[in-house]
Amino acid sequence: GEPGWRTEADVIVVGSGIAGLTCALRLREQVDRVLLVTKTVLSAGSTAWAQGGIAAALDPEDSPEEHLQDTLVAGVGLCDEAAVRALVTEGPERVRELVALGTEFDRAADGGILLTREGGHHRDRIAHAGGDATGAEISRALIAALDRVITDPGIEVIEHALVVDLLQDAGGRVAGVTLHVIGEGDHDGVGAAYARAVVLATGGLGQIYVSTTNPSVATGDGMAAALRAGALLTDLEFVQFHPTVLFLGEGAQGQQPLISEAVRGEGAFLVDKDGMRFMQGVHPMADLAPRDVVARAIVARTAQTGSDHVWLDARHLGAVFLEKRFPSIVARCRELGIDPATQLIPVAPAQHYASGGVWTDVAGRSTLDGLYACGETACTGVHGANRLASNSLLEGLVFAHRIADDIAARVTAGELAPGAPLPPGGDTGLLDPANRAEVQRAMTAGAGPVRTAESTRHTHAVLAELVGRSSAEQPTTQAWETTNLAHVGLALCVGAHAREETRGGHERADFPERDDRHWLGHLSHVRTEDGV
Ligand code: SIN
Repeated sequence: GEPGWRTEADVIVVGSGIAGLTCALRLREQVDRVLLVTKTVLSAGSTAWAQGGIAAALDPEDSPEEHLQDTLVAGVGLCDEAAVRALVTEGPERVRELVALGTEFDRAADGGILLTREGGHHRDRIAHAGGDATGAEISRALIAALDRVITDPGIEVIEHALVVDLLQDAGGRVAGVTLHVIGEGDHDGVGAAYARAVVLATGGLGQIYVSTTNPSVATGDGMAAALRAGALLTDLEFVQFHPTVLFLGEGAQGQQPLISEAVRGEGAFLVDKDGMRFMQGVHPMADLAPRDVVARAIVARTAQTGSDHVWLDARHLGAVFLEKRFPSIVARCRELGIDPATQLIPVAPAQHYASGGVWTDVAGRSTLDGLYACGETACTGVHGANRLASNSLLEGLVFAHRIADDIAARVTAGELAPGAPLPPGGDTGLLDPANRAEVQRAMTAGAGPVRTAESTRHTHAVLAELVGRSSAEQPTTQAWETTNLAHVGLALCVGAHAREETRGGHERADFPERDDRHWLGHLSHVRTEDGV
């Protein structure tokens, strides 16, 4: 409907994970007015769930160059090297700034930051906090920093605000958003916010699948809004399935408990139902091979052994070490009746990360003027076909700075005038929230860990039919979320159908080989209305 209220800012930042918070805090020092909006509360979202840590060449023995090499190898030929170079060279300084801001990383006896290893890394370069609660500590420190400046008129926060669509001016420039806000004082119901630029930092799309490590808010909202506005999205077919997610039975739905790769980094290993180790011989890095390799090996092993999961053996690490190093994981397992110190942990792959997203350049600019994307929402090119473990918090951090600095420079140069957006376009048909489970089932079956031409075509048809029916009675947050999942799902199916090869987070049963001759590039055209 028509906006009931209106507000203005220089920049609107959408989302409150590491990317959104970092961007808003840095922008506040450089422009007059920043508006940060978030769908539920500041601390919701994927950042707070991140376990393993944040990767950066902090060890004197390590170097950005080696971090670059590991990232490029994990990305299976599709990383953008300039973007990776920015990530690994600026990363260490950004992490030190996080420390200066109050983030308490775990320390060695000599006071240095403790570093561990994860899949695909040839060095110990993962900083962690609270053992296995790295994201929660980073989120806490960033929100505390925001709290310290929140009375400043230069920054405003609106919680419980879902961004519905992007507003564009007559020339197509993104100059604001429409918001659906639930009970936030002056701002209630549908409103509009105008700005010189909009930064989408809304996280990933995990809820598009039946089971995921992502929280329930990860519904691809920013990607969907960008798609509807005509921005380019790319690499959506590369979906990372984390190899070791606690297996709670066939019927498990929604967010599932992650067993951090750092558990393998500290020496745990995978075994099949007969107690046999199976990663040795599959890859030189064995249990610490890149994530897509491990996930695929698990799927293959379960198929061979007629089982629905494998096991992680961490018993030899001992109760004392496990409780100290992985307090959250051990507590969660014990709540569910599994003691990692004495028992094997049942694990199976589940959706974990979207390597693709809204295409951006190294300054974070999308293909639409005035629109930026950051963190999991974006596809900067640092992940290629498969993200290297613990590079995602780092990406949010590094590119949030780049975006803030780019916007500030453009404002100073008079390039980004205050927006004069046109009224919102035609009404988007909304899906009934009751369709959410059907979207998730269709995506999991046809565009999940293993795809074919036929399965992606079928899933696309199921989603297109749901979108065509669009039967929601009320424009609730749940209706918008379900609609966003379907819109992003359609685009993902287009990419997964088109890419006739197997690479990184995209596995095609009908094209089981990597095909560098035809597919060493990106799909440049993915829109909701495209067919398969
Ligand atoms: C983990 O702790 O295994 C997750 C790390 C990541 O996804 O980068």
